[in-house]
Amino acid sequence: MNLCGKKILLGVTGGIAAYKTCTLLRLLQKEGAEVRVSMTSAATKFVAPLTFASLSKCPVYLENGTLEARPFQHIDFPRWADLYLIAPCSANTIGKIANGIADDPVSLCFMSCAGEKWIAPAMNVTMYSSFAVQQNLERLKANGVHVLESPKGELACGETGEGRMAEPEEILNALKNAKEVKNVCKNGKRVLITAGRTEELIDPVRYISNRSSGKTATAIANVFYEAGFDVTMVCGPMDVAAPSFSKVVNVRSAIEMHEAVLSQAKDYDVLVHCAAVADYRPAEVANEKIKDSRSQLHLDLIPNPNILRDSVAQKRKGQVVVGFALETEKPELHAKEKLEKSGADLLVLNMPVAKESGFGKDNVAFSLVEKGGTVPELQMASKRDLALGILRFTLLELEKTK
Ligand SMILES: Cc1cc2nc3c(=O)[nH]c(=O)nc-3n(C[C@H](O)[C@H](O)[C@H](O)COP(=O)(O)O)c2cc1C
Repeated sequence: MNLCGKKILLGVTGGIAAYKTCTLLRLLQKEGAEVRVSMTSAATKFVAPLTFASLSKCPVYLENGTLEARPFQHIDFPRWADLYLIAPCSANTIGKIANGIADDPVSLCFMSCAGEKWIAPAMNVTMYSSFAVQQNLERLKANGVHVLESPKGELACGETGEGRMAEPEEILNALKNAKEVKNVCKNGKRVLITAGRTEELIDPVRYISNRSSGKTATAIANVFYEAGFDVTMVCGPMDVAAPSFSKVVNVRSAIEMHEAVLSQAKDYDVLVHCAAVADYRPAEVANEKIKDSRSQLHLDLIPNPNILRDSVAQKRKGQVVVGFALETEKPELHAKEKLEKSGADLLVLNMPVAKESGFGKDNVAFSLVEKGGTVPELQMASKRDLALGILRFTLLELEKTK
């Protein structure tokens, strides 16, 4: 994740490793993060709050308000934070946060923080391997808390083993390598997006397909998710992974995609038909691999069902349907024709016009054609920009039906 501009609340608990948190704080600031600190009473015995207050240039949230405790610091700080990291996290605090106890600044912030939560456990090896700590760590992980590894090493108590707090640089790298998670406010709407390509079997080892990568569909999934939609993706084969926040239905052929979409389309407020679905499939699939006879081979192709048209046919009031058309010639003519024939609300015309655009690339030449409207000139932009255009149109359409 990009730490620049991130608001990070650092929780510090009572352990020797608390001194390392000063270095961690500086490393986070160097990345451009804004950092504030909360401390348990035990932590203040290891590092003076004044140190953290000076480094963070902000009052530290403490139990007895020795530095400065504003009346609502216990909710102000966690509300402000995009990310809450407890480092070091003592066995005692692990026990509290895993079991709903919130009786000190660090555990209280944990309970009232809606952002991402990370902990860096630090303790003696026997404490670390105790059933209580291990069970509590499992519980935290199961509830989405990122538990940093406590690697083997020399411990402050003189023993060697697991339980050492990860080094500040290791913690920083773990944060930087983590996937970005945005705090999303749900809007109660659902979008179904078809993604990738389809594969139409010729025989058990060969198929007809195309070069769609799934990148545009994942860009669309991202912007709808960020706008608060519940996202479902019906994915044919793709070169990129579907985002982890989306519910995924995997399919292979156009027939399977047709079935997966049409069987649940009515449950969605928005349908985005982004997948590159094969128009035709072999009339028959050979049971065995077709042998090379060195003579001409004819493949009989029959049309696949039209998923866009069939979903428009059963479109319910207020539902928004977006179709895609990839054209290599006469784009305006074909786009208008497809929009009229399909009855979609919006048609995304796209053309693989340049080397740096189209299949598998981050940019695309596209034009958003609204029902009854003219075809705007093609523009070259990022797939995210295309996705934002679809989102903007969809939100306006949904607003009209309120
Ligand atoms: C010198 C010393 C070092 C300690 N180091 C640790 C430690 O690394 N990890 C830990 O879980 N507890 C450690 N403890 C015990 C905790 O400080 C103690 O459990 C305390 O109640 C934790 O409170 P807190 O979770 O509110 O910060 C240490 C205690 C002392 C006196």
